[in-house]
Amino acid sequence: MAEHRFDHLVDTANGTISRELFVSDDVHRAEQEHLFSRAWLFIGHESQIPNPGDFFTSRMGEESVILCRDRASKVHVFLNTCRHRGMKVCRYDEGNTPLLTCPYHAWSYSLDGKLVGVPMYDKLYEGVLDRAAWSLIEVPQLANYKGAVFATWDPLAPPFEEYLGGARDHLDLVLDASEGRAGGTEVVGGIQKWIVPSNWKFGTENFMGDSYHNVSHRSVDLVGISPNARSGIKGRRASELPGTEHVWLSYPQGHGVHSLRLPVENEYVDAFRDEPEVEAYFRRCYDERKTRLGPERSRWVGLVGSIFPNLSFHGRQPHSLFVWHPHGPRSMEVWRFYLVDRAAPEPVKDFLRHYYMRYSGPGGMTEQDDMENWNYATAASSGTIARRYPYNYQQSMHASVSSAPGTMQTTQINEQNSRDFYRRWVDYVSNRDWNVLMGRDVL
Ligand code: FES
Ligand code: FE
Repeated sequence: MAEHRFDHLVDTANGTISRELFVSDDVHRAEQEHLFSRAWLFIGHESQIPNPGDFFTSRMGEESVILCRDRASKVHVFLNTCRHRGMKVCRYDEGNTPLLTCPYHAWSYSLDGKLVGVPMYDKLYEGVLDRAAWSLIEVPQLANYKGAVFATWDPLAPPFEEYLGGARDHLDLVLDASEGRAGGTEVVGGIQKWIVPSNWKFGTENFMGDSYHNVSHRSVDLVGISPNARSGIKGRRASELPGTEHVWLSYPQGHGVHSLRLPVENEYVDAFRDEPEVEAYFRRCYDERKTRLGPERSRWVGLVGSIFPNLSFHGRQPHSLFVWHPHGPRSMEVWRFYLVDRAAPEPVKDFLRHYYMRYSGPGGMTEQDDMENWNYATAASSGTIARRYPYNYQQSMHASVSSAPGTMQTTQINEQNSRDFYRRWVDYVSNRDWNVLMGRDVL
């Protein structure tokens, strides 16, 4: 494999990563050019666009895209730019429309992307403008995985499920409903969006399993915001069943997860004791899930994880998906999508929505701590002198073992997931081919 100018920034053998990854314009440009233009990216959830004509404006890297459902109910993802002079065709966050009409000179596009309206066409364009050739620019590949819509700009990218690899089992723990029904979740409430003066990779890495930073959440744990808080139980989430094992896995495609494995003999632990209706619902789901998935598979519970490059999730509490959108090298826009079981009673959804907001987002007591760390780390890494010194990634250097080809697993807090993420990251920004990016070259 040919040496690339970015290779020296990532030294996983010695556990060092250059600060350039988090502050440099040059690195940021390479990410836009070679990483966000090729990787599969999360766009939105189909529950946000249930009806024909529904749209949700999303992002792929730094570019705006429109997720919409056409009149035949087919889902599309278009670049949000007019083919005439580039005006943003859709300036709303979400809604329903029969047509996407450009505000500048009023070219109109149908929800399947076709250019259907050009003012004064007969007089000004007849015989010259081939409308069929000037549709909205559509992604060449789109995947709807259990309601979560992903897309890539690369026609040569492998199919989404191959891209997911073994991390799929853990994403399932997020997208499936609590009673184990495949893809039985939906987005509740609006999307929370906010800007953090930090590089996007801080988010991805934190959610690959950086439990080491729990100390920074000490104050919220002392306050106690868990669903059992009114019963005087401290912490951020409900208690774990004694004997639960924490498992970290990193995958050859660059994904990393931190999931829980319950003991063989397991039972429901009170998680919503202040709310009898919510508690009864989740107790029933627990038993149903065991029956549906069987004793082995039902032992796995999702905690956190990141799908390469910028989708992360909370599997259990607060159940959500979030995206770290780059906004230049030292700024990101965070989007949080909160999930609930589609079939849950309304009071359950409502209770969860309140808990999620207490925990997450710019006003959430837990997430504020993370923002503060990433914000100041970025500022303190940006100076000429600071940039000469790499970050340390030597934690649990030899703890992980191979559990499947290209997959590393451990039960101790580690930075293996991060090291493996950055090893894959450097392959993307160096524009290496899909054999390398999928880890096929070492399998
Ligand atoms: Fe859209 Fe001119 S830029 S119609
Ligand atoms: Fe945190």
